[in-house]
Amino acid sequence: MNFVKTYVIFLGSVAFIIISCSDRIAETKDNIRIGFSQCFSDHPWRDAMNHSMRIQASLYPEVELEIYEAHNDIQRQIEHVEKMINDGVDVLIISPIETDMIVPALEKAYDLGIPIILIDRKINSQKYSSYVGGDNLEVGRNAGNYIISSTLDKANVIELMGGDKSTPVMERSKGFRQIVSQAPSIVLLKSLKGIETGIPKEQFSTVLDSLGQNNIDYIYAFNDQLALQAWQVAREKGLEKQIKFIGVDGLNGPNGGIDLVREGILEATILYPTGGAEAIEMAMEIVAGKEVPKDNILNTTVIDLRNADMMKNQFDKINNQQLDIEQQIAALRILEERYFAQNTLMKVTMALLAIILSLTFYSIYSIFAIRKKNRQLQLTNKKVTVQRNQIKKIADELKQTSEAKYNFFTGISHEFKTPITLILSSLESIREMARAKGSRIVEEVELINNNSNRLLRLINNLLDFRKVEDRKFNLTVSHTNLFAFSKSVYEDFKHEAKRRNISFEISCNNKDLEVYLDRNLMDKVYFNLLSNAFKFTPDNGRVHIVIHDEIDKNTVTVSFKDTGIGIPKKELANIFQPFFKGSNNRKNSTGIGLHLSKEFVELHKGTLVVSSVHGTDFSMTLKKGNTHFDEDEIIQEPDLVDEAVIEFNQNAYVEDAYRMEEIMEDQEQYCILIIEDNPDLLSFLEKKLKVEFDINLSDGTDAVEKALEIIPDIIICDLILPDKNGFEICEILKKDLRTSHVPIIVLTAMNDKQSYLQGLQSGADLYLTKPFSYSILVQSIKSLLYNREKLRFYYTNNIYKIEQTDSFGNLEQQFINTLNTIIKENLDNSDFSVEQLADTLHVSRVQLYRKVKAILGLSISDYISNFRLEKAKTMLEITSLSISEIAYGNGFSSPNYFSTSFKNKFGNSPAAYRKVHGIVSTS
Ligand code: FRU
Repeated sequence: MNFVKTYVIFLGSVAFIIISCSDRIAETKDNIRIGFSQCFSDHPWRDAMNHSMRIQASLYPEVELEIYEAHNDIQRQIEHVEKMINDGVDVLIISPIETDMIVPALEKAYDLGIPIILIDRKINSQKYSSYVGGDNLEVGRNAGNYIISSTLDKANVIELMGGDKSTPVMERSKGFRQIVSQAPSIVLLKSLKGIETGIPKEQFSTVLDSLGQNNIDYIYAFNDQLALQAWQVAREKGLEKQIKFIGVDGLNGPNGGIDLVREGILEATILYPTGGAEAIEMAMEIVAGKEVPKDNILNTTVIDLRNADMMKNQFDKINNQQLDIEQQIAALRILEERYFAQNTLMKVTMALLAIILSLTFYSIYSIFAIRKKNRQLQLTNKKVTVQRNQIKKIADELKQTSEAKYNFFTGISHEFKTPITLILSSLESIREMARAKGSRIVEEVELINNNSNRLLRLINNLLDFRKVEDRKFNLTVSHTNLFAFSKSVYEDFKHEAKRRNISFEISCNNKDLEVYLDRNLMDKVYFNLLSNAFKFTPDNGRVHIVIHDEIDKNTVTVSFKDTGIGIPKKELANIFQPFFKGSNNRKNSTGIGLHLSKEFVELHKGTLVVSSVHGTDFSMTLKKGNTHFDEDEIIQEPDLVDEAVIEFNQNAYVEDAYRMEEIMEDQEQYCILIIEDNPDLLSFLEKKLKVEFDINLSDGTDAVEKALEIIPDIIICDLILPDKNGFEICEILKKDLRTSHVPIIVLTAMNDKQSYLQGLQSGADLYLTKPFSYSILVQSIKSLLYNREKLRFYYTNNIYKIEQTDSFGNLEQQFINTLNTIIKENLDNSDFSVEQLADTLHVSRVQLYRKVKAILGLSISDYISNFRLEKAKTMLEITSLSISEIAYGNGFSSPNYFSTSFKNKFGNSPAAYRKVHGIVSTS
């Protein structure tokens, strides 16, 4: 990260250096700002001055020249000077309109240190740096001398002056007069002052008229423009040939002084250089810090016909050279721009190159750094993986160990159940026997019973604890009267309360209140809480169950209060922790009962809290209604009823059993196959059941084979067996046509919902959990057999309707359909035998016999015979066939045998039957 920061700073610095370098290059060409105030414009000589200044300035790329036009307005020129001061020009050049009014502004600039160059005209002050211009006294003298040299006799001259009060006007006049005053041959007839537009035309015209054609020899005009105007006026009067015109300036170009001379309009012109280029040169020298002369006088000369062409050539050359220079400067500018563009491009390229190079270096560095980091990471990863694997291994080992322990305890707990079941079943028999003899049960037996039940509850608690830990509990709640439910548990503790003189009460403010409970789990909650209360309540104490329907709320509270030793306050929070044992608890305790109770209440979405002031108060709050349960948790169970109703129902049940026994008495003994690997339980069941049934045994290793061999009337099968488990055996037998009709009772110690469902799916008809009551087992066997009998009775009397019914399982239905089809096909075949039928159905003769006997209650031959007789009976009713035809047509070997069989079944001979029921007249 630090490297990245450093790198970014580095790149920034590179960019900054490059940019600032290029800026510095631009800055080194420090611009020189030159301001120039031109007194007036729209005059060729002034334009020439501006032009030459621009050309000269363009030779210096650093020079910025700004030209201000004052348009002969003094005030405006003063403003220009002020502006140039404010702009901080490096040099101020001025061609002043007049000598005085501009002085304060210029002196101010001068005092501020701005160099001032006067061009062409001077001022009445010495506060200027330099003057550049022609010698105007010399100009006047040149004009005078020229007239003298051209005059033999005498010359009359008119002076046409400029219209301003500038030094050139004054000095040109002065110089001319100096000459005229010394030459008697020259007479200055008149001196006229110019106006803004040039010469004062009317005045000049009047002068010409008054002086007449022979009196004027020369007109000396202060510039070539004035001279041309004067010539034009003279030409109007036809005097242009007599009068000679002399001008000043000598500009080259159309209407310039040199051309006017060459055309013969002017006699001569006095060259007066503009000084524009020289002024710029002067400025550059001043900026360069050089000493410059205060007065820089430019040469002047006379141009007439003798040298006009030469001068023109010279000026043309100069102009051409200037043009060349201009073009070269322009080309230079383009090159310069190109150079700057390329230079910039090159710098940018260099900068980019530097960036790319540094990026490349950085990338290479990064690659190495990343590789190094990667190697480190891989190493760390390996270490972590090794450590993780070690941890996983340890965890797996731990899991396996604890799993093995759990499985051991679970297994052993299951193992406990079978002997206890045996003990309890034996006790039940002893009780019944004692009851039958009318004797009272001895106390020891009662003790065995109570303790066996207690042992059973403890084992159940252990198993429940495992299930709670594994989150395997499934709730099955049913609509239950809370008071009736509580009362039934209360009854179980009444005896102990009486024995220990404990005041044991139950109270309820709404005895009709119905709630949804998992009766099995809630029974355990009640049992645990009451056992706890009785355990810690001393003799003569008090235990109270209070049911309080919170009428305004959606809840009901059941409190279990006792006057026992109570629980220390600081331990209250831990009381529901598994394996917790209170410090004042001297009794034997597993420490899981309260934990389970809380878990079971919470499964009901209720709460269980404890308080202990004098004794202990466990308060359970349950929700009313069933919206807090999932749909699949809600089941239907019969209502709890009071004892009188139970007794009545028991009597009815007994009556029903008598009826069943009557039916069953006619039958030969039913055959039961018991599949159980516990030899004690196996022999116990055998001993008990063989009184009423024909018993076959299997320890589970040959269960399926035995069932197929015997085809029993009922199968009792344990779930956990050495070879196949009970579900597998059940599934095989239920899918086999030969045994599919046999009812199967599954006996198991597993009482979770999952196993129950699996049992049903495998086709078990009944699912009894250990410890089971022997009487319930017998009752269940009889019930299943009775239902079979009822079905048989129905079928034997409705042979033809069997095909439409679905009371059998699918396999049975299919079997009967096939059986009937085969019989129907062979009705008229008197040779058709049971062996043939068994072959066609792919079963043995005995299996066919047992199957048909089991599901239809008849021997197979009787069944076929019945079929034939029923068919014959119908034929007697609806056909006119003879009796012997019907007999043979239905497979009877002789009409006599048919008649005997028919009379045995229906009570009448076929002929007699036809007489009564036949609907077709016979011949
Ligand atoms: C132009 C001009 C020139 C002359 C100069 C004197 O404005 O009159 O013809 O030579 O000014 O300042």
